[in-house]
Amino acid sequence: MGSKAATVPELLNKKVRGEKITALTAYDYPFAKLIDEAGIDIILVGDTLGIVVQGEESTLPVTMDQMVYHTQMVSRAAKQALLVADMPFMSYQCSVEETIKNAGRLIQEGRAAAVKFEGGDNVADRVEALSRYDIPVMAHIGLTPQSVHRMGGYKVQGRENRAAKALLDDAKRLESSGAFSIVLEGIPNRLAEKITQTLKIPTIGIGAGPHCDGQVLVMHDLLGLFTRFHPKFVRRYADLTAIASDAFARYKSDVLSGKFPTEAEGYE
Ligand code: KIV
Repeated sequence: MGSKAATVPELLNKKVRGEKITALTAYDYPFAKLIDEAGIDIILVGDTLGIVVQGEESTLPVTMDQMVYHTQMVSRAAKQALLVADMPFMSYQCSVEETIKNAGRLIQEGRAAAVKFEGGDNVADRVEALSRYDIPVMAHIGLTPQSVHRMGGYKVQGRENRAAKALLDDAKRLESSGAFSIVLEGIPNRLAEKITQTLKIPTIGIGAGPHCDGQVLVMHDLLGLFTRFHPKFVRRYADLTAIASDAFARYKSDVLSGKFPTEAEGYE
């Protein structure tokens, strides 16, 4: 919408100015174009790709090649938004050298401006290494979907004092390791507020209440395109499932009844 292109330094400035940061996921060109044109600051090619596009039960089956492919598609539409690509499972739970190579692919082949991955103190060395080579890193703590088996499901994290302190310590460690921003997912509102007040880098919340510096939602949740489950934190701004189902049913009925196509919808 004619707004300035979002950059890593600009997002940091937004926090200083107290301006909220907007983020949405996208996985293909047409939706990324709509999101970009709406002036959203960050487009995240999330590994939620596995769940909302591929129909998997979790994000774990998503591969590097798939992330590169979808990031490329989205990159052709991301003219003003900062393009962040998720690092899939096992692309950074490996050596630091492999992590650098995989992140480099998302930047070089996928044309992302930054990468995101899950974890706290355990991935701080990877955040440090990538930052050293000027690959900006968005961190992600709290309910980290790649840890679904350890967590025993998608459960709110950091409710007990010890767990809350560990998350605050993780956040500080990630900031000092060079992360330019941090996603806080599925943690209590007050803990998200405390982390947000403690850090200089912006926090981007999802299921973390209203006190983060920015918000992110999975596009398919916001549009009502993913209906398998409806987490409490999701606000549906549209019901595209109903609109698409109605269009498909009317098309089928028109073809069966001979109403489509008409003579005028063909060629002389
Ligand atoms: O993969 C994803 O879409 C994400 C968001 C939910 C933050 O990590």
